[in-house]
Amino acid sequence: MQAANKVALITGSGKGLGKAFAGALLQRGARVCLSDVDPKTLQSTYDEFVSQYGPENVCSSPCDVTVESNLKDVFSKTRQDLKGLDIVVNNAGIADESKWDKMVDINLKGVVSGTLMAMDGMKPNNGGRGGIIVNVASMAGLIPVAHVPAYSATKHGVVAYTRSWAKHPESTGNNIRMVCLCPAYAQTDIIKMHNRAAQGEDLAKASIMELGVMSVDTVVTAFLKLLDDRDNHGKALSVTRAEGMRYF
Ligand SMILES: NC(=O)c1ccc[n+]([C@@H]2O[C@H](COP(=O)([O-])OP(=O)(O)OC[C@H]3O[C@@H](n4cnc5c(N)ncnc54)[C@H](O)[C@@H]3O)[C@@H](O)[C@H]2O)c1
Repeated sequence: MQAANKVALITGSGKGLGKAFAGALLQRGARVCLSDVDPKTLQSTYDEFVSQYGPENVCSSPCDVTVESNLKDVFSKTRQDLKGLDIVVNNAGIADESKWDKMVDINLKGVVSGTLMAMDGMKPNNGGRGGIIVNVASMAGLIPVAHVPAYSATKHGVVAYTRSWAKHPESTGNNIRMVCLCPAYAQTDIIKMHNRAAQGEDLAKASIMELGVMSVDTVVTAFLKLLDDRDNHGKALSVTRAEGMRYF
């Protein structure tokens, strides 16, 4: 999918990977609705992108993905301010084993809610025009990760949820694609959370050492590949330092 003139909504896009995905789409001529639970990072990212790309191409809406009404507001604002909905990136996530129930709410339930609203908004009978839903999982959604078992479970859930929808293509509608992005470690603040994992800093350090830490740009390249590749409905794209990109 060419990003030019498309409308995207990205959760958790105040900083980190979400912000980088937003920047890449804006650079390619898309219009983007930013959203985040943290109003400060949201405002500063909004100001930065508005000065770079103009207010007609960016909007923002505070949103905690665990609050259904917040998510609904982001979808409404995107359609109202940017006139459409073509790309939804369910990206917001945390890695905090000490708050495992909150993590399930954000990482898994937030993705389920965001996916259902995206499908609804993209359906032609609701005035939609189809599109792509990118659910941000992790390598921890494809392999077990000892120091963050609950995090790994949420990400396995995201992969299973996305694949399950795509098993019967007609259930998502012919013109809606749903895919997962499964990066290994990338240089964002979430890495610090891994180091504070309940199952021990040593295990976390060993895992990070084994897989290495990728640049955010490497993950953005994989994100753009998911948009561009056409026959990837229901697929999970992993990206690691050792193996690069690989579909599962
Ligand atoms: N960086 C990595 O190593 C890595 C690897 C694999 C997958 N991921 C996944 O990528 C996604 C983005 O993570 P990141 O690395 O950019 O981390 P990050 O901590 O830099 O950014 C996460 C963003 O999500 C927001 N957020 C947190 N809770 C939220 C909520 N309830 N509602 C809305 N927004 C919320 C935060 O405020 C923050 O802006 C996450 O789903 C994460 O699990 C990251």
